[in-house]
Amino acid sequence: MRPAHLPARALWVDGTIVRGEQAMISLFDRGARDGEGIFETLRIYDRHAFQWRRHLERLVLAAAELGFPVPPSPARLREALDALLEADGLRDAVARITVTRGVPGGRPTRTGCWVELEPLAGRLWSGARGGGASAIFSRRPFEPGALGRYKTTSRLAYHLAREEARAARVDEAILVSGAGEALEGAVSNLFAVRAGGVTTPPLACGILPGLTRATVIATCAELGLACREEPLDRAALAAADEVFLTNSVQQVVPLATLAGRALPARVIGERLAAAYRAAVERAVQGGDEA
Ligand SMILES: Cc1ncc(COP(=O)(O)O)c(C=O)c1O
Repeated sequence: MRPAHLPARALWVDGTIVRGEQAMISLFDRGARDGEGIFETLRIYDRHAFQWRRHLERLVLAAAELGFPVPPSPARLREALDALLEADGLRDAVARITVTRGVPGGRPTRTGCWVELEPLAGRLWSGARGGGASAIFSRRPFEPGALGRYKTTSRLAYHLAREEARAARVDEAILVSGAGEALEGAVSNLFAVRAGGVTTPPLACGILPGLTRATVIATCAELGLACREEPLDRAALAAADEVFLTNSVQQVVPLATLAGRALPARVIGERLAAAYRAAVERAVQGGDEA
């Protein structure tokens, strides 16, 4: 019998579809022991994996840069994803692909790898659904350092910030450095609009190079909106006309309130959100998973 708290959904673990208690990796896996894992979270629209190739590229590059064994090939991961979509009959979902450093000592060394899918509905921020998204500043100073640009499973700092957001009943917590620079959300990148210009913290701050962030920066150029990558201090953000957050699951989310202050506008954020939705629509129609 499956304990009630274990999800019954299908997972692909190192080549096999399993459910509940069967979903496990070895305690000798360095991902399980020491948090040596990397992952990608992507959104599936009507069985279409949006920006699949970019997610896989980020995963494979991170594995190479961090000296992990070679992950399963993109074609094999794609088969895993398709098998999971089939197994649970899902069309709109959130997929997570996790790759660990694996069990040491084997020759050749192999990553641990699992793929999982969750129905989209449970994952959307209430503010992303209803248009009234809200965020706070995390109270714990955060220094991402040189590893902040990787999406690793060593996520305690991000999860503690997410818990702060949950406790405050808001959608997201914004991470701020000891020097007062606003960096990113616990699971999202950050943009501000001041005097009509869009600003987002530079990658040099150690933030995650979000794929949605990159898409929004490119869209600003297409729409003729000035977008600068430069540090944003907390005080500047608190006084911004607009603030919006981006991630692959939530898309582009203009905030209604930040740290309890109602933001005066959402015009540019809404415009970029609409452009992003249109790009998704085009990709889904055209079958383009770039
Ligand atoms: C810390 C952090 N920043 C930014 C993002 C957004 O990245 P992407 O747009 O690639 O989903 C995420 C995604 O989960 C994240 O965890």
